[in-house]
Amino acid sequence: MNEFDAMYREVILDHYKNPRGHGEIEDADAQAEGQNPLCGDEVAIYVEFGPDGETIEDVKFRGRGCAISQAATSMLTEMVKGRSATEVASLPRDELLDEVGIPLTPIRLKCALLGLGVLKVALHKAKGTPLPEEWAGVDELQIS
Ligand code: FES
Repeated sequence: MNEFDAMYREVILDHYKNPRGHGEIEDADAQAEGQNPLCGDEVAIYVEFGPDGETIEDVKFRGRGCAISQAATSMLTEMVKGRSATEVASLPRDELLDEVGIPLTPIRLKCALLGLGVLKVALHKAKGTPLPEEWAGVDELQIS
């Protein structure tokens, strides 16, 4: 492992052990939950919009799963706060994967993208924002 990978692993473990944005938002404006059927791990995401009904004022998640899925979702909550629903709906998955920072196998990729998929579905349900085509790669995630 080179020193950059080691540093990213530290960051991932820190997010896993001390998740940011952990919890639920009562009466959330947008919400969805999803499961990775390969392992049964779950993430639920809650979003509160600001007075303009568009800016993500608060976002929280609860979940159960591997370090990558939970850490990536924790990183995601930090990345999207203050951004608009429309912008986040088209957020490229590479932006999150860059944040995660380590090379991922296809199976681990599904772990890392679980939270982002759930968030996009939550925004889609609440705002009608489109689900991007790149989602084709993570078809197996069961999100509702
Ligand atoms: Fe289940 Fe990672 S092993 S989401």
